[in-house]
Amino acid sequence: KKVVLAYSGGLDTSVILRWLQDAYECEVVTFTADLGQGEELEPARKKAEMMGVKEIFIDDLREEFVRDFVFPMFRANALYEGLYLLGTSIARPLISKRQIEIAEQVGADAVAHGATGKGNDQVRFELSYYALKPDIKVIAPWREWDLNSRTKLIDYAEKNQIPIAKDKRGEAPFSVDANLLHISAEGKVLEDPWQEAPDYVYSRTVDPEKAPDTPTYIEVEFEKGDAIGIDGVKLSPAELLTKLNELGGKNGIGRLDLVENRYVGMKSRGIYETPGGTILLAAHRGIESITLDRGQAHLKDELMPRYAELIYNGYWFSPEREMIQAAIDASQKYVSGTVRLKLYKGNVDVVGRKSPFSLYSAAHVTFEEDTVYDQRDAQGFIKLNALRLRLAKNARG
Ligand code: ARG
Ligand code: SIN
Repeated sequence: KKVVLAYSGGLDTSVILRWLQDAYECEVVTFTADLGQGEELEPARKKAEMMGVKEIFIDDLREEFVRDFVFPMFRANALYEGLYLLGTSIARPLISKRQIEIAEQVGADAVAHGATGKGNDQVRFELSYYALKPDIKVIAPWREWDLNSRTKLIDYAEKNQIPIAKDKRGEAPFSVDANLLHISAEGKVLEDPWQEAPDYVYSRTVDPEKAPDTPTYIEVEFEKGDAIGIDGVKLSPAELLTKLNELGGKNGIGRLDLVENRYVGMKSRGIYETPGGTILLAAHRGIESITLDRGQAHLKDELMPRYAELIYNGYWFSPEREMIQAAIDASQKYVSGTVRLKLYKGNVDVVGRKSPFSLYSAAHVTFEEDTVYDQRDAQGFIKLNALRLRLAKNARG
């Protein structure tokens, strides 16, 4: 029996590794993804080797993550509950997909993850597993074992010679998930939604109050809805997001303190930092503002909350997500051009936009004299639109 574990190298998944070896008596294959979380991955290999793992997979998925997951999502301007840029939600389907590929490659019959039984992530992992490999066996140790407290977890680690980082002996201050799109923090010191988050929770952005007193101007170039360059320099998707993170981080952009509705029914409070993503969303809306037809723009804004909810709830690999994606992608055919942005103390403002496909017609909109628009046409337009309003007023008083 073989199981592929999504392994971060941290305490929780290390305990899971040993527990799988003991409780299931199975051979564990570890898979660690580099999604741009900004952590060394070699220690994860060392730890896995130490625990007797023979097949160890460590993959750099940064480009695939941004190109095939983050960018398609940003074409939709997706936000969950109006604010959350879905940084964790969008990473889970990719981790699951690679895990299933590895399971097939090494002939494993099961996969395991370290998400708890209370959250969204278990749902996202498992819906993805089942969508890609219907007969896969799923092991979710947090739902099965009796190590239901930090103390028990640490005791187990000590009994089994699992190395524990010094700062993990006491209470970990909060739970973190990070990748190239965002870093999120939940739990512990953040559990009281009335208490402001302490400054040490933030790691990717400076406090906007301490950000530079002079604004940073940048230009982002788009092609068919995807960002392809900054300030005239072409960049790969992961390079581009890395650069935007740097620019946003320095200017205190992309902090969010949110109470959200989890799919399983409870509310949770999280602190998110999405510096590059926040700039990218503003920039994308900026280029769309001149390249999308009104009908397209309004329709995709109606689809967006549905689309965001599908991703939040774990339905990336679903027929309906693919349907909406096809519609979104079709809208992006002319979404090409350049946006100029001003980054300043936590804010990102679009201050300029241009495109070879711009629908903006100065000739039509000018307050000066024009030769293309007959103002008398508006009279009948308004009269007919007012007809039902007038009939109603007459009939109903
Ligand atoms: N609430 C966010 C989501 O469901 C983040 C979850 C993972 N984050 C964490 N700090 N454990 O997408
Ligand atoms: C977890 O419960 O594992 C993290 C939070 C979530 O999945 O929503």
